[in-house]
Amino acid sequence: MTLLIVMPDKTKQAESWARHLRKLDPEIGIHIWPEAGTPEEVEMALSWRHRPGEFLKYENLKCIASMGAGVDHILCDPNLPPNVAVTRVVDPSMAQSMVEYVVMTVLNHCRQTHEYYREQRRKEWKPKIPRTADNLCVGIMGLGHLGMNVALRLKQMGFSVVGWRRTEAAADSVTTFHGREGLRSFLAASNVLVCLIPLTPETRGILNRELFDQLPADAFVINVARGEHLVEDDLLAALDSGVLSGACLDVFCREPLDPGHPFWSHPRIVVTPHISSLTQPARVAPQIVENYHRMKTGRPLLHTVDPDRGY
Ligand code: GLV
Repeated sequence: MTLLIVMPDKTKQAESWARHLRKLDPEIGIHIWPEAGTPEEVEMALSWRHRPGEFLKYENLKCIASMGAGVDHILCDPNLPPNVAVTRVVDPSMAQSMVEYVVMTVLNHCRQTHEYYREQRRKEWKPKIPRTADNLCVGIMGLGHLGMNVALRLKQMGFSVVGWRRTEAAADSVTTFHGREGLRSFLAASNVLVCLIPLTPETRGILNRELFDQLPADAFVINVARGEHLVEDDLLAALDSGVLSGACLDVFCREPLDPGHPFWSHPRIVVTPHISSLTQPARVAPQIVENYHRMKTGRPLLHTVDPDRGY
């Protein structure tokens, strides 16, 4: 039985994963794609953005583990072998990192930090009244592991927080709306909208003109989920017409973002290179090795996703 690390074009990172996994269990036979050893021996794959159809080559494959919190890059493959478990990463350090990124962005929005950066370069002294936590409601779309951590931290800091999830869940500790019916009320309350939902056929393009129009005046959008959630032209139109006051984007349909893309130079868009919550192999390797052993001994795997639901 072997484990195949599949990270097209990222050999250095794949080697780092292999080192961390071997440190925890030197007995695991590890291959780095495209070298796969004997294909029939591959029973587990650790993957980030594989080439579609790749996994059909391994007839004894039992589990595909995503290297990240998202699994859309696996489930979008129309030629995924049937009956293979798909797992994702659930990690407190990734949640902490996401909390820090969103808190930083919300505070930058409140304090208009990016305006001050521009004014400093022009040597302009222009004090502004800050937006304050008691006057600002942050709406978190997606109350999974990451979303709930972000929501609770912002609440602790004195912000009003509302959440939105696809289906009703028991006893959320923030005010939560759910389903299509709840979306309108959720949006109407959200001065800052944080997108943290999984990418599924249902949520692709959800950040569009119709949604922006339902936000309060002066709203700000933070996308830390996937680029495909956003209709890019609708965002530009909403910013240029004053429907939105700004946006902070960490994810894009095409990464790296094309040098000619209008987001780079838009005065009300902050671009970061998909760094809101990076997987750290040293921290995450233990759960991959744990699942490898669970698989070998026929025990239930940790952090499996439902491929039909998409997360
Ligand atoms: C990053 O985007 C992840 O899915 O962890």
